[in-house]
Amino acid sequence: MKIAVLKETRSGETRVAASPESVKKFIGLGATVAVQSGAGGGAQFSDADFKDAGAEISPSAADAAQSADLVIKVQRPTTEELRLLPKGARVAAIMSPFNDPDSVSSYARLGIDALALDLMPRITRAQSMDVLSSQSNLAGYKAVIDASAYFGRALPLMMTAAGTIAPAKVFIMGAGVAGLQAIATARRLGAVVSATDVRFAAKEQVESLGATFVTVDEEAMKDAETEGGYAKEMSEDFQKRQREFVAEHIKKQDIVITTALIPGRPAPLLVTAEMAQSMKAGSVIVDLAAEQGGNVELTRPGEAIEIGGVTILGFANVPGRLAADASNLLARNIYNFVSAFWDKEKGEFVVDWDDDIFKGVGLTREGKIVHPNFAEAQDAEPVAAEPAEIEDEAPSEGSQ
Ligand code: NAI
Repeated sequence: MKIAVLKETRSGETRVAASPESVKKFIGLGATVAVQSGAGGGAQFSDADFKDAGAEISPSAADAAQSADLVIKVQRPTTEELRLLPKGARVAAIMSPFNDPDSVSSYARLGIDALALDLMPRITRAQSMDVLSSQSNLAGYKAVIDASAYFGRALPLMMTAAGTIAPAKVFIMGAGVAGLQAIATARRLGAVVSATDVRFAAKEQVESLGATFVTVDEEAMKDAETEGGYAKEMSEDFQKRQREFVAEHIKKQDIVITTALIPGRPAPLLVTAEMAQSMKAGSVIVDLAAEQGGNVELTRPGEAIEIGGVTILGFANVPGRLAADASNLLARNIYNFVSAFWDKEKGEFVVDWDDDIFKGVGLTREGKIVHPNFAEAQDAEPVAAEPAEIEDEAPSEGSQ
């Protein structure tokens, strides 16, 4: 069983899907691992590190992918990469299928079994395989570090002989994995932290981290969570009242970090241009939802901008700004996933399509779209004989 690790080619992607540690463990299972030369460069893993771990170093992506049974990647394959993959190969990556549903049809047409790690079900057994959690956690931490780097003042209360510096006020919007880590990080740095979310469960979590929870309507929050633990889209009325509340709260904040997402939908707009401009000069907003449409009206994805004295950071691929840690965690998530379905006798990764984990992550199987969210597209369009062209957008994505 050959596992191939390709060098990421999408713009700005610094991470890699394997680490020397995960390669060693794959080899311990009985796999052979081919790592494309330079694949770990952005994450400070050298070819020599991978070689010492037991990998073969392949000079090109084509060499690495040749006769591979399983290809592991950070982001979904580009058109060029898809052409290199052997028919019948399995590919596991952060596929971001909702951002590009056409890519799913392409995997089916090419006969590739695509496994979207970002659709891992949120069940206890799959927690150690959850790439969204591992990457969001780092993004939440880095958002606070980025904000403080652009903020021209200190975060903690400082009592000095020259006088007292007041602590910064930090407001976190969306208290999921990224938001909770942002709260914890801002608290560690001594800021006064408040947070909001639409899910009722978030209130207790926010308070347990020593932050103040703020909301417009606790009752409406009780019905805002799906069975999978994600947020639902809120009513127009709730959103309107939320905006009015945020407009008042935000004026008094120094740093705002937005992390709000709704799976399969564009990110909700939480901070209008007017609200952002009501903040004091020198304030900083970090929009972690920038790549999913943004929570902040003024965000320019991938950019740091200043408008009217307020800095708005819309960095793409925030986990990739901590590439070594992000890659190590991603590599462990992928190893935990593959090893959980490893048949020791056969010495191979065996997909069990009846298992809830594969029902969640499986996009395509033997030329057919199997994921219920995308199967409709397949029924609607005829199957083309030729490999599909996929639009390759330049900016990096699927970073969380
Ligand atoms: P996410 O990345 O989908 O969204 C981030 C946060 O934004 C969520 O907390 C969501 O409720 C919030 N949000 C959405 N719309 C909003 C709005 N209009 N205003 C304010 N906030 C809004 O969420 P994430 O980080 O993936 O976590 C979702 C839940 O799943 C959490 O409860 C988390 O603890 C849970 N979880 C469970 C896991 C497991 O059981 N294996 C693993 C990871 C997370």
